[in-house]
Amino acid sequence: MIGKVNHIAIAVPDLPAAVAIYRDMLGAPVSQPQPLPDHGVTVVFVELPNTKVELLEPLGGSSPIAAFLEKAPAGGIHHICYEVDDILAARDRLAAAGARVLGDGNPKIGAHGRPVLFLHPKDFCGTLIELEQV
Ligand code: CO
Repeated sequence: MIGKVNHIAIAVPDLPAAVAIYRDMLGAPVSQPQPLPDHGVTVVFVELPNTKVELLEPLGGSSPIAAFLEKAPAGGIHHICYEVDDILAARDRLAAAGARVLGDGNPKIGAHGRPVLFLHPKDFCGTLIELEQV
């Protein structure tokens, strides 16, 4: 059901510093910052030949990554995003198998303008999973 890794997301406390690490030290192309108020984050994408790395900084008072950064102040891997062909079919299959879909269970529009869902880390080996319909 899942396809390619669309991106690996890293929560960071200081987005300009993280951009400098990826752009200047690691020599990767990095996009302009994109505020996503619906998701409580500002993101940039590091474009790699085989996938992307998403750097996430909290945006607003109730950011879902604020608690993550309290536990991991230097930042850390926050989620992995897998591509699916049909996000509603994927959701229904996972829900029928007992997996927990976060939020109200309905896809939101993600950073690429495509529907996304998040799955509970306790059901997936301790890793927050994002599904993106491509
Ligand atoms: Co993501």
